Amino acid sequence: MIPAAVMSLSVVIFGTLMLQSVSSQSEPSIAASESIILTGDMDSLVLQCNLTSTSGSFEDSYWMKNGEMIHDSRGPNKNLEHRLNRPRGDDAGVYTCVFNFNNALSANATIEVRSAPLITGHKRSENKNEGDTAVLHCKSVGYPHPLWTWHKIESGGIKDVDNSTGRFVVSSRENYTELHISHLDINLDPGVYMCNATNLLGSYSERSTLRVRSHFAPLWPLLGVLIEIIILVVIIVVYEKRKKPEDLQDDDDLAGPVKTNSTNNHKDKNLRQRNTN
Ligand SMILES: *[C@@H]1O[C@H](CO)[C@@H](O)[C@H](O)[C@H]1NC(C)=O
Ligand SMILES: *[C@@H]1O[C@H](CO)[C@@H](O)[C@H](O)[C@H]1NC(C)=O
Ligand SMILES: *[C@@H]1O[C@H](CO)[C@@H](O)[C@H](O)[C@H]1NC(C)=O
Ligand SMILES: *[C@@H]1O[C@H](CO)[C@@H](O)[C@H](O)[C@H]1NC(C)=O
Ligand SMILES: *[C@@H]1O[C@H](CO)[C@@H](O)[C@H](O)[C@H]1NC(C)=O
Repeated sequence: MIPAAVMSLSVVIFGTLMLQSVSSQSEPSIAASESIILTGDMDSLVLQCNLTSTSGSFEDSYWMKNGEMIHDSRGPNKNLEHRLNRPRGDDAGVYTCVFNFNNALSANATIEVRSAPLITGHKRSENKNEGDTAVLHCKSVGYPHPLWTWHKIESGGIKDVDNSTGRFVVSSRENYTELHISHLDINLDPGVYMCNATNLLGSYSERSTLRVRSHFAPLWPLLGVLIEIIILVVIIVVYEKRKKPEDLQDDDDLAGPVKTNSTNNHKDKNLRQRNTN
């Protein structure tokens, strides 16, 4: 156990020394633009990185934004420029210039383009049945990524979401936030909710309206038809009951002539038979 620990420790120390000697051997240096704060009135913004010294042989370079390579930015340039025309909120982020060398080493520098948050998407309204789960969301541009909070607009003003029932769950990641409200309560939950994105440079908020329908709402039309049928049945039954005595009289009236007719027929037959006789 102990020799193994010492071994691995010495490997770590040796590794670190190796790395240090490699990096002091080839010490590329980069002169990069300062981090910058976006304001609404900028016509254009140019980010620059100059490779000022290199020990290995330089191969190529490219730009990254938020950890992803910027399309078509790869080239053989030691002096890099990235131009943002009429920069907006979604141009904010972390820009990195990367210089590659033929010995598989690379060097990079980072330029932060900061701006106040701007909410660029949110759910305007959500309609749900009581007992269901509602999900509201907001997403933002701007950098640094904002701190997200959710509030509810009450008659008394803007209040923090009241989570005494434990039904409210907020999940936020960087430029996106979600508010889940489970087991919707028709009396407590409907109303206007507000997401708020705040960073060092400012804050922004948007509103979402939550409507909660009664459990029985989808049943109302069915219930209406059912009630109609019941009323119809009641009317028919009452009508039939009232009609019955008259119907019996009618039957008697009808029965009279029929009987006489039949006896008449018999008489006719008899007559005919007699006649033939
Ligand atoms: C990069 O080099 C250019 C000249 O090639 C110079 O104008 C510019 O100021 C340099 N940028 C930085 C950030 O040093
Ligand atoms: C930038 O350099 C750092 C070390 O200085 C390294 O950890 C990181 O991975 C590099 N990033 C890129 C995109 O090459
Ligand atoms: C949100 O952040 C991620 C990661 O930083 C990024 O890839 C994505 O483009 C961003 N979305 C918006 C709308 O800015
Ligand atoms: C609300 O309470 C539940 C349960 O205690 C918890 O899991 C959740 O994180 C809380 N939500 C908020 C927004 O504080
Ligand atoms: C957002 O919340 C912050 C911190 O509570 C507050 O200072 C700011 O006024 C709010 N912004 C908006 C637009 O409501």
